[in-house]
Amino acid sequence: MMPAMRDVIVAANWKMHTTPADAADLARTIAARTQVEGVTRVICPPFVSLAVVRDALATSDPDVGIGAQNVHDDLQGAHTGEISAAMLAGLATWVIVGHSERRRDAGETDEMIGRKLGRAVDAGLRPILCVGEQLSDRDAGRQDAVVEGQLRGALRGHDPAALDHAGLVIAYEPVWAIGTGRNASGRDAATMASAVRDTVAGLGWGLRAGDIPVLYGGSVTSANIAEFLAEPSIDGALVGGASLKPDEMAGIVARAGLTAAARGTAA
Ligand code: 13P
Repeated sequence: MMPAMRDVIVAANWKMHTTPADAADLARTIAARTQVEGVTRVICPPFVSLAVVRDALATSDPDVGIGAQNVHDDLQGAHTGEISAAMLAGLATWVIVGHSERRRDAGETDEMIGRKLGRAVDAGLRPILCVGEQLSDRDAGRQDAVVEGQLRGALRGHDPAALDHAGLVIAYEPVWAIGTGRNASGRDAATMASAVRDTVAGLGWGLRAGDIPVLYGGSVTSANIAEFLAEPSIDGALVGGASLKPDEMAGIVARAGLTAAARGTAA
């Protein structure tokens, strides 16, 4: 596996923050402050702000990718309030699937998440698949088994070549680290990132698993990003709270640029 070849990605998950009235300005400000060579930037605003963020970035910084935070697992139908993959055409090119807050709030199962992955890929969206254990799992030493189960469940039945071609990204986000200010250590996150690739390799991906960017998420800030990016198995971050703060994003992406330069992907 050749970690030096993988791109460095910083994705901002705004969760249920911002309104269409303020999202455009925030996106423009973050974009202007994160123009660092070699770093793939993605902003995932709420659905209702996708259009204004798209328009704001189209004129100011079209290099910033736009992602949705979710997509429905059905093609269309009687699902009041839901958003299908086809509806995202022209609004987003990335999509987060299986975030732990959706597993918790909306009861998403690995099987549903697997179907969402399929919808995303069929619609030409680049998926960020989130996995991660609860605190009780980690305390019991079950983190590997839990994440392996999530990956097996979500990737079952998918053609590795198709997902590889779609640019699948996996975000390891331990639930106990999300929004708590208690981030994982760089070492622990790196161990999990390697375990993620080993699991995926065993699911028929083989050497292709080495292509998958694995991000860390969970209380990432400009002060701790270096600890994660110092690890060759970690390719960037999925950032929640800090992604709403331009100063924080500037610091995180600046540090990501150093990794991109060191990997030689910032050409
Ligand atoms: P925080 O960075 O707020 O911990 O959130 C992480 C996350 O869930 C990103 O998807």
